[in-house]
Amino acid sequence: MNQILITSALPYANGYIHLGHLAGAYLPADIYARYLRLSGKKVLYVCGSDEHGVAITISAEKENTTPEKIIDKYHFANYEAFQKFGMSFDIYSRTSIEEHHQIALEFFADFLRKGHLVEKEEEQFFDPKANMFLPDRYVEGICPNCGSDKARGDQCDSCGAYYNQIELKNPRSIITGETPEVRKTTHWYFKFQNFQKFLENYIESHSQDWKDNVLQQSRSWLKLGLTERAITRDLLWGVKLEKITDIPREKTAGKALYVWFDAVLGYISATKVWARNTLKNEEEYANWWKNPETDYYAFIGKDNIVFHTLIFPAMLYAREDGYILPKNVPANEFLNLEGQKFSKSRNWSIDLQDFLNDFPEPHFVDVLRYSLLMNLPEQRDADFTWKDFQTKNNSELAAIFGNFINRTSQFLSKNFNSSIPEIDLELLLEWKQVVNYLDDTYSANIDNSSCDGFSAKLLNNNDLLLIYSIWYGIEKSKFYLNKFRLKEAFFEIMNIARAANKYFNDEAPWKSIKENPLLAAKTLNFCIQVANTLSITLAPVIPFACEKLQESFGRKPETGSSNNAVPVENLWDKSKFPTIASGTKFELKQVLFPIIEDKTIELQISKLGMQPDNNSNVVDVSNLMSIDDFRKIELRTAKVIEAERVAKAEKLLKLQIQIGEENRQLVAGIAKYYDPSEIIGKTIVVVANLQPAKLFGIESQGMLLAAKTSDGRLSLITTMEPNFPSGAEIS
Ligand code: MF3
Ligand code: ZN
Repeated sequence: MNQILITSALPYANGYIHLGHLAGAYLPADIYARYLRLSGKKVLYVCGSDEHGVAITISAEKENTTPEKIIDKYHFANYEAFQKFGMSFDIYSRTSIEEHHQIALEFFADFLRKGHLVEKEEEQFFDPKANMFLPDRYVEGICPNCGSDKARGDQCDSCGAYYNQIELKNPRSIITGETPEVRKTTHWYFKFQNFQKFLENYIESHSQDWKDNVLQQSRSWLKLGLTERAITRDLLWGVKLEKITDIPREKTAGKALYVWFDAVLGYISATKVWARNTLKNEEEYANWWKNPETDYYAFIGKDNIVFHTLIFPAMLYAREDGYILPKNVPANEFLNLEGQKFSKSRNWSIDLQDFLNDFPEPHFVDVLRYSLLMNLPEQRDADFTWKDFQTKNNSELAAIFGNFINRTSQFLSKNFNSSIPEIDLELLLEWKQVVNYLDDTYSANIDNSSCDGFSAKLLNNNDLLLIYSIWYGIEKSKFYLNKFRLKEAFFEIMNIARAANKYFNDEAPWKSIKENPLLAAKTLNFCIQVANTLSITLAPVIPFACEKLQESFGRKPETGSSNNAVPVENLWDKSKFPTIASGTKFELKQVLFPIIEDKTIELQISKLGMQPDNNSNVVDVSNLMSIDDFRKIELRTAKVIEAERVAKAEKLLKLQIQIGEENRQLVAGIAKYYDPSEIIGKTIVVVANLQPAKLFGIESQGMLLAAKTSDGRLSLITTMEPNFPSGAEIS
């Protein structure tokens, strides 16, 4: 591998980036890109806004404005927020630009010529009042499968069924509210099935190196068999088909490419723009995209998997023009927030924008990056909590890393006039020999490594342990990073900081400074060497603190930030060695990570989900009942003993509960809101004298009580005292 191309999914320019997005496709890619740059690799990291598709036109309608205004607003806002978050893109482009439209049309025209497209006439809903065909998300109606009345054009959120738009019952246009007509329209389909064999081979060639979730989803699509996919829409916003001269104009009028067809090509158009801006030659993009020496990694969230493992590769391959394919598609699972799914409508979300407003100092960005990293949904869904954010700062960044840097800096300032003490050069030489010994003996066998075989002349046991910890942390981090296991990689790096604190304790320079100043000088010199190591190896995660730290060593900081693919030396490996010259001044003016107080995060927690409930919070007094009516309902406390999901019924949980001595089974529609594990052990409230009923064939002997807001938030009713006995009467 000569050079590495990295992309992050292009975010839709119709909303702000939130922490869930960051954990999915952005932070991991940025950390990875920075790591590679610091390892001396030639890296190009591209991203940009996805500015087409129905999501944008719907937002424009909601905000009562034009698609152009929407994309400008969010493109620049997100770009700025990404920069403040320390994203090291070499370019952040957008898909509304001319170059992008050109390349998308070039792909379409080429596929048309090669016979990979087929034209089909089909029936679709047309809104005569709005004078337009209705894309799927523009119609609502009754689900043909389950009868839910909030079904979307092509999919029902209630039962999860997929169907053809015109099967929807009682359809209405979301623009005008009118009942649409069925009209004929022509669309172009990509013959995806032509690539079945090729894609099977491609996916299986990665059976050893891709993540399970990525392989599984891709394989299950392939197993179903690939079919033609419509790649055009009746839409006035997007890459317009009219420019395709091989098709008569009357057929292409009013049509645009389906957003996913052009969006993935945004990576290529962004590279072209980068090449033009920095190399003054647009065609240099081919040196990345058509160069077998390029390793290409596409970072995405799990909802984008097949687009990047099947559709995009098929498109690249179909060009027969030397395009490379993703070498890995490290897709992450989803991040939750305080135990619940991110939801903008319920205000259960943290926009990066808002975070930056509340926490403008860069060290807070580092804390956010670190706490997101340590909670990355790499293998399964994960959870971000403010409490954990605080803990990651106070107990890790401040207590381990910051503390080590501080005590080193203070000791230097008090005893060595803030300058790195001079020591016997033989000591530094021996340090290098230890590293060389470890490299030579154990680089292929890290887990069995030790310094036992090295006979030291000057270094003491504390020194050897420190040097070994650095060597091990760096080697192990490389091992994990190469497998995209970022959490574990940086846990190993933090272990170097742990070892550094231990070293300071064990060497006790506050004693030796009186009895044996030469020993104290060595201790502090070594501490500075480790501080330097950490300032490089933690830079991908906490670039702002590391930049400050490196500046304090009086050198040009290197945190793996965007460098337009101009490689630096391999600082990652170099960090195993002592490189800071004695005499260098080192003084830190402020602590790197101040403690975060309880009240700071309490304020943030209180903001979550804050929203007046406009519709259902008024009690209807025209509908009063007598106390006797109320007494007919037998409410009792119950303890949840077991809880599990119900196959084929996404909304339901099956609970085993205890009401006093009695055990019962209950089925409740709360699976969207609670994970089974969250409610086991809780004391809830049930209607105990309800006639049993069957839901999805499962008997439910009673009903639990929950509160629900008009905008869809739900909370189980539980007892104030967590272990309150079950079976108690409620009145
Ligand atoms: N905009 C899409 C989303 O947010 C992702 C597009 S990725 C790309 O889910 F490859 F198409 F660019
Ligand atoms: Zn349905």
